[in-house]
Amino acid sequence: MKLNIYKDKQEVAEQFSEFLAERIKQSTGKLNVSLSGGSTPKVVFDYLAEKFSYLDWSKVNFFWGDERCVPPEDEQSNYKMTVDHLFSKIDIPQENIYRIKGENNPDEEADAYGETLNKVLPLANDIPEFDLIILGMGDDGHTASVFQSNIHLWDSSNNCEVAVHPESGQKRVTITGKIINQAKEVAFLVTGADKKEKVDTILKGDEVSKSYPAGLVSPSSGELYWFLDESAVDKSYH
Ligand code: 6PG
Repeated sequence: MKLNIYKDKQEVAEQFSEFLAERIKQSTGKLNVSLSGGSTPKVVFDYLAEKFSYLDWSKVNFFWGDERCVPPEDEQSNYKMTVDHLFSKIDIPQENIYRIKGENNPDEEADAYGETLNKVLPLANDIPEFDLIILGMGDDGHTASVFQSNIHLWDSSNNCEVAVHPESGQKRVTITGKIINQAKEVAFLVTGADKKEKVDTILKGDEVSKSYPAGLVSPSSGELYWFLDESAVDKSYH
């Protein structure tokens, strides 16, 4: 595990963008990347669009780790957020974008997207293998859309499952632990003081940390990176 701690959200976004840009430049084939949703990636996408629009984005296949079960034009759609902050500002072929169709029946879409991963990604141990999975973490310790209230989904034998947000009741399609822990690289992007308590707990790696979905992220052979700002982690790690 590699900890990267920066002064604020903007510096996290800039440093992670450099991390991603380097991988795109070095890639000799397609780079299969799974995006996270929520608010943190917006700053990353804005910076990528501003500083790295020149990259050959056709080398990247984009997927999502989770999507809200809403239409793609809905303000809550992770896809729409990505279009607004990145795809609308770079030259990315439509065929490189593998959208979770939030407008479809959730159970059917979870199956369909799981099948897409089987078809498009290389398989390692019969599991679709991403080059990079970007994850956020909620202040409740959820990641992707696996919440404590449905933590059993983490161990599903399926590539994707339907989760229900514990407060809003909103349905979401999410990738599962088998996909996340198969990735070559996983990068957590977590900022803000509201995340500190869970980040400190999860970095301890003890039994308590395993009661949170984010604490179950442990790539079987890949590398785990944390991109944090100082407010999101105890000073002892600085
Ligand atoms: C989503 C995300 C979710 C997110 C965390 C952190 O669809 O909401 O995938 O897992 O990463 O909730 O969200 P923030 O970055 O907004 O704190």
